Amino acid sequence: MRKELLLCTIMLLSMLQVKATEKETIRISTNETDLILKVAPNGRLYQSYLGKRLMNDIDLKHLPYYINAGSDGSNSPRGWEVYPGSGAEDYFEPALAITHNDGNMTTILSYVSSETQKVDNNVTETKIYLKDKVYPVDVTVHYVTYANENVIKTWTTLKHKEKRPVTLWRYASNMLYFENKRYFLTEFSGDWAKEVNMNTQELLFGKKVLDTKLGSRAAMHTYPFFEVGLDKVPSENEGNVLMGTLGWTGNFQFTFEVDNAGNLRVISGINPYASAYELKPDEVFTTPEFIFTLSDSGTGKASRHIHDWARGYQIKDGKGDRLTLLNNWEATYFDFDEQKLEELMKEAKSLGVDMFLLDDGWFANKYPRSSDNAGLGDWEVNKNKLPNGIPHLVRSAKEAGVKFGIWIEPEMVNPKSELFEKHPEWAIHLPNRETYYFRNQLVLDLSNPKVQDYVFGVVDKIMTENPDLAYFKWDCNSPITNVYSPYLNEKQNQLYINHVRGVYNVFKRVKDKYPDLPMMLCSGGGARCDYEALKYFTEFWCSDNTDPIQRLYIQWGYSHFFPPKSMCAHVTSWNKNTSIKFRTDVAMMCKMGFDISLKEMNENELGYCQSAVANYNRLKTVILDGDFFRLVSPYESNHTAVMHVGKDKKKAILYAYDILPLYGEKIIPVRLQGLDPKKIYKIEEINLMPGETSRLSSNGQTYTGDYLMKIGLNAFTTTGISSRIIEITQQ
Ligand code: GLA
Repeated sequence: MRKELLLCTIMLLSMLQVKATEKETIRISTNETDLILKVAPNGRLYQSYLGKRLMNDIDLKHLPYYINAGSDGSNSPRGWEVYPGSGAEDYFEPALAITHNDGNMTTILSYVSSETQKVDNNVTETKIYLKDKVYPVDVTVHYVTYANENVIKTWTTLKHKEKRPVTLWRYASNMLYFENKRYFLTEFSGDWAKEVNMNTQELLFGKKVLDTKLGSRAAMHTYPFFEVGLDKVPSENEGNVLMGTLGWTGNFQFTFEVDNAGNLRVISGINPYASAYELKPDEVFTTPEFIFTLSDSGTGKASRHIHDWARGYQIKDGKGDRLTLLNNWEATYFDFDEQKLEELMKEAKSLGVDMFLLDDGWFANKYPRSSDNAGLGDWEVNKNKLPNGIPHLVRSAKEAGVKFGIWIEPEMVNPKSELFEKHPEWAIHLPNRETYYFRNQLVLDLSNPKVQDYVFGVVDKIMTENPDLAYFKWDCNSPITNVYSPYLNEKQNQLYINHVRGVYNVFKRVKDKYPDLPMMLCSGGGARCDYEALKYFTEFWCSDNTDPIQRLYIQWGYSHFFPPKSMCAHVTSWNKNTSIKFRTDVAMMCKMGFDISLKEMNENELGYCQSAVANYNRLKTVILDGDFFRLVSPYESNHTAVMHVGKDKKKAILYAYDILPLYGEKIIPVRLQGLDPKKIYKIEEINLMPGETSRLSSNGQTYTGDYLMKIGLNAFTTTGISSRIIEITQQ
């Protein structure tokens, strides 16, 4: 009897054990990836597995709590803690660091519970609750998975109930661990007009940090996204690769740390530089979203997944149409009047684009905006240039048969402005040092709610006066300089974070009130290109550099993380050594626009542009919503090629560019991707100059998708800088 009771108890206990183990395994998965977290006997939460999705649930029980973390000289096991605090047994960079009210700087989080909720068939949200057993600190780690797009979005919320504010020193969005032989980081760095140069380096022991301290934007010198090749250098079509990006329009930080055991830790979040955050009791600190995907076949597939996710879930009106446009910036700079603009509107119509976009220089009277050193902040129309106001221009555009859009830069102020005279305390600048100006301007202090109201008011006033206005280009040309907020007084350590939150408050108010208004995000070129800002914007300006050759590299770089429909590319007169056709063919792969006076063109060139716009409109769904393939890299060749394939594989567009062709060089056919191998496709070169016939031997021929993908098309030439756009149609 006693024996039976014992047996029963053992059985019950082991059942409970199984139950407990099951409960303590948290599976976060997409169709292709598993992130498996386990609660160890010490009550803490560890990353147990991150990689290709496991086929059989029964295998989960074999996964360890503690991964090979190397020796630390003690007998206690160490592992990969999901959200490690400072002061525990791990000697590497923590995700979280807090100074508690009693001065203690350690935080060790234990697992409390978790919840998983299916939002729909594709999206699942998991919340994991953690707490410190010694201090009243609660942490929630959030994961949202997108099954088909193989994307995981994760962020963390922090809260406490200590008596006084605690100081947060580190507050990462997320930490991931990898156990591979070698790691190769591809980073995207550059400068104004030299955006997103791609470089790859091996990560060896120690830390590599990518971060910025620009305050009002994420990027300029390095961009808020990266790729890590696991075992091999990241490449387009093969190999395991992690691609990650942070949604934060301010200082960000990625830390890649290879530890004593040769494992890689990737920590993503706000850059804590000069931002020790005072968190009040019960205040919730929400980190930005970190978005990542793992690919088992290179960056190409990962990019297509991110594009699908971005269009489906993140970018404002991600699934909607986009407007082609004619912008006056490079055609006129600050030198325009009503008549010039009205002529350009007519030119926009004759080109066939949807909209005319009025750029910088239309506002301010006391200190007219006739150069970039005055007027920012005074958003009344300049009466000399435009005596009849914006409503008149909106009407003129309507008469010309195009929509009307306008440029603003409402977060900034020139010291030579009425706004600065009235509210010097609204500008971020130091009371006790010489002021440093970036592009002759200062950043308004968006940590101040009154300034938020003012910035929202700029948009709201223009929209109220011009309900037919169809588009905003929202610029942000200066990083935060002279880092001091008159509003925050002695709490300067809150400035970087509260400023960005203030920017989001304004963006949100604009989107709530004008949900259907398309908006371009611009920041002295492409310095604002992150997935939090893009919740409020339909597209972004990639670079002020519109030299088509350099644009090929810039667009190649951005396309790793952003769908072409979100990337504005305009035809301008940069690099006149290239033809109008070449410049247009480069813009055509993204969200196309023109920023040039048609007077610069001869009849042939104009005819060509008109037919290119007509082709663009005809093929828009493939370009904007199809799959994007990077076929030949400009980094690896003196030619480059990319391709859009419609989701139904019925239509594709191949773009081939000769950047630096050499006499007598061997030309390799371009192997296409994404077609149906069994179907027949017709090849047709489009975007030809008027009267020109295609010199492609394949023009007008039909091939199977299999042939085109295995053997390819001779799309490159050795005849100078030139381009071809080829329409591929399933028969
Ligand atoms: C920035 C933008 C440009 C243009 C100018 C206007 O440089 O990137 O496209 O709008 O501002 O001042």
